[in-house]
Amino acid sequence: MFNNQTIDKFSQLDTPFYYYDMGVLNQTLQACRDASVKHGFHVHYAMKANFNPRVLDMIQSFGFGADCVSGNEVKAAIEHGFDKGKVVFAGVGKSDREINLALDADIFCFNVESVQELEIINELAAAKGKKANVAIRINPNVDAHTHHFITTGLDENKFGINIWQLPDVATMLRKCASLQFLGIHFHIGSQITDLEVYKSLCTRINEMQDWFEDHGFTVKVLNTGGGLGVDYYSPDTNIADFENYFQVFKQFLNVKPGQEVHFELGRALVAQSASLISRVLYVKNGKKKNFLVLDAGMTELIRPMLYQAYHQIENISRENQESRVKNQDEAATHHSPLTTHHLKYDIVGPICESTDCFQKDVDMPESFRGDLIAVRTAGAYGEVMASGYNLRDRVGSIYSE
Ligand code: LLP
Repeated sequence: MFNNQTIDKFSQLDTPFYYYDMGVLNQTLQACRDASVKHGFHVHYAMKANFNPRVLDMIQSFGFGADCVSGNEVKAAIEHGFDKGKVVFAGVGKSDREINLALDADIFCFNVESVQELEIINELAAAKGKKANVAIRINPNVDAHTHHFITTGLDENKFGINIWQLPDVATMLRKCASLQFLGIHFHIGSQITDLEVYKSLCTRINEMQDWFEDHGFTVKVLNTGGGLGVDYYSPDTNIADFENYFQVFKQFLNVKPGQEVHFELGRALVAQSASLISRVLYVKNGKKKNFLVLDAGMTELIRPMLYQAYHQIENISRENQESRVKNQDEAATHHSPLTTHHLKYDIVGPICESTDCFQKDVDMPESFRGDLIAVRTAGAYGEVMASGYNLRDRVGSIYSE
């Protein structure tokens, strides 16, 4: 992915930073749009995955909607030109202020996560003389077979309304004159690579829409949520399998005439477009362990520390060194000897936490202070989850064009 020109550009910059390959982003969005449009499916981008302004602008330009989980995300979506008729607002804890903001913005729909929330949205909409569109987020109790920290659709998860509570939902909907019931919403988890899981979800969606229809409600929207995973092990080759993903829903979802099918993809659209670029600050060779201490850590990318997530890590100064270092003079000016010797390193950050480790025992060319390290497939839940812990500078970003 990184050619010599790009690496030379990186070597002139302060690290750490996120590098966005806008070509990869463009290609991914194109693939998703092509695969969804042919079935008439609607995709709302789950903005929580990445709300970098350049990324949002490009996604918006493809005509996708926006799936938001805070008032500020709703605001940002509208500021970045997303059609308000394609903005949905989900989340278990919407505050009154956020609900009011979304009502004022006339968004498409609230994905409602509790019976009490229905009551509150109804009151706030009534106070404004408006009618709020709502979809009921149902917790389908379907196992997503993903890391338990990013599973959302099981009975023990806080998300959505459990199936046994649906009679209360129906009663509340009938009572609330300022709500317009639009449909049903699901989201079972993230980084799902086993498409079989989505077949089980389709079965549950079919049952649930029948339940609502049997109770006198017209289901106009079937929102299946997001969760499609990416291949963290092949950062340069595989974009997400949109074709087969949408095909599962085409085949197994019982879509009735006039119904719309909505998706909320986050990771699959953005993960592969970015890498976190950092430098080796120190090399510590120990008896039991060698450490590469980077200038980036859990404050810039927390996924490995929070979910034991794998990200491919590359020493981009070394891995194509033979083609780069034409003579020993250049090596000398880089203070970096030529080497093809490999060692095992724990790749750690500078933060005062033992968990601040990207990966243990990584096989890498022998590495030196100043080498550039790329942590790949970092475009989703990377920059957005950065923090200022240890009073760190906020990480910046650069773009391929
Ligand atoms: N819709 C809802 C209601 C969600 O909660 C989420 C993600 C999505 C859509 C988008 O899911 P995606 O297509 O990106 O999988 N920080 C974690 C992932 C948390 C996902 C939260 N919800 C990680 O870094 O793996």
